[in-house]
Amino acid sequence: MNTVAAHIRSIIESDGPISIAEFMRIALTGRADSYYMRSDPIGLYGDFITAPEISQVFGECIGLWCVDVWSKLGSPAAFTLVELGPGRGTLMRDVLRAARVAPDFLTAATIALVEVSPALRNLQAALLRADGLPTVRWYNGFQDIDVIGPLIVIANEFFDALPVAQFVKGHEGWTLRTVGLNDAGELMLGTQPDAQASVCVPVSLLDAPFGSTFEHSIERENVARAIARVIQNEGGGTLVFDYGFEGPALGDTLQAVKGHRYAGILMEPGMADLTSHVDFTALAEAFAGGGACVSKISTQAGFLTQMGAVERTQILKRLASEQQKAQLESALKRLTSADAMGTLFKVLCAVSSQAIQPAGFEAE
Ligand SMILES: C[S@@+](CC[C@H](N)C(=O)[O-])C[C@H]1O[C@@H](n2cnc3c(N)ncnc32)[C@H](O)[C@@H]1O
Repeated sequence: MNTVAAHIRSIIESDGPISIAEFMRIALTGRADSYYMRSDPIGLYGDFITAPEISQVFGECIGLWCVDVWSKLGSPAAFTLVELGPGRGTLMRDVLRAARVAPDFLTAATIALVEVSPALRNLQAALLRADGLPTVRWYNGFQDIDVIGPLIVIANEFFDALPVAQFVKGHEGWTLRTVGLNDAGELMLGTQPDAQASVCVPVSLLDAPFGSTFEHSIERENVARAIARVIQNEGGGTLVFDYGFEGPALGDTLQAVKGHRYAGILMEPGMADLTSHVDFTALAEAFAGGGACVSKISTQAGFLTQMGAVERTQILKRLASEQQKAQLESALKRLTSADAMGTLFKVLCAVSSQAIQPAGFEAE
């Protein structure tokens, strides 16, 4: 048994079963040996691949979106550019490269990265410094950032890593899914009555059939509300990508991935990635609850196409070898086609004023 699993077991032995949300928190970020804290899980030799690692075009489109919002804010001389969960730093590097079209944007930006992982902070620093990029500051949480001027926040596959609670419909009503121990001392899923269930499960789903699962992430909503409040006060915008759905909906979307394959949720906490699909409707409501003007929920394909991903790929192909051309085409396809990431990945944005019409969200 690995050290994270042993720690979880000792908590359960002393205090009883824990929620799925607490299990996720400990497994992913709660300790020095948790999944994200100890090493780089992203890429071919890691556990999973993300959009910015597939093609530079992804980050470049987001960079142009940031420049567009900044100019619609009146091109402020100082603003804060935040990325939540920057992974290897690839997305921010590509954003800043694309933003060279507006040199004043780069001069005005103070860059803040929200990253808990020391291992990933080191990678981000090495990548961004190698490009001679401006001063970057790191924070453990969004609430820790000293925001200067208006705020622009980007996030790709950040919200799916935040803890989610699962509620399961039992014979006696809704219960909380838990992680406990079986007679052999192994981790085991269970359920227990919980007062939160009646608050978190939407009224429209209360009568769901026996065995149904509903997921709710208070952590995601808290981050969204906090961002929206600052955007409302200081001006700004935020752009969020993740795999997700329009809720409210039933379903168990919690998954563990290791070495690009699905693994058992309980098999190796701390050694496998754990995520769940993001309820974009709940996220949109949290942004709106914090006072921001929220876009429609769009797809990664819709956004990238409107932001010129196809044209940018064609430009990159002009100077590319035959092998690189094929790679660029296949990367574009992976990001935008419906049988890959194109529609499973959703995107939404929230801005400080109705007067700001953000790029990439026009009706199709
Ligand atoms: C799936 S990776 C996505 C990385 C990157 N955005 C990309 O697209 O390649 C999740 C990122 O969020 C960070 N992260 C996860 N949970 C976090 C938390 N609670 N607070 C801050 N960062 C977190 C991870 O360390 C990692 O950088």
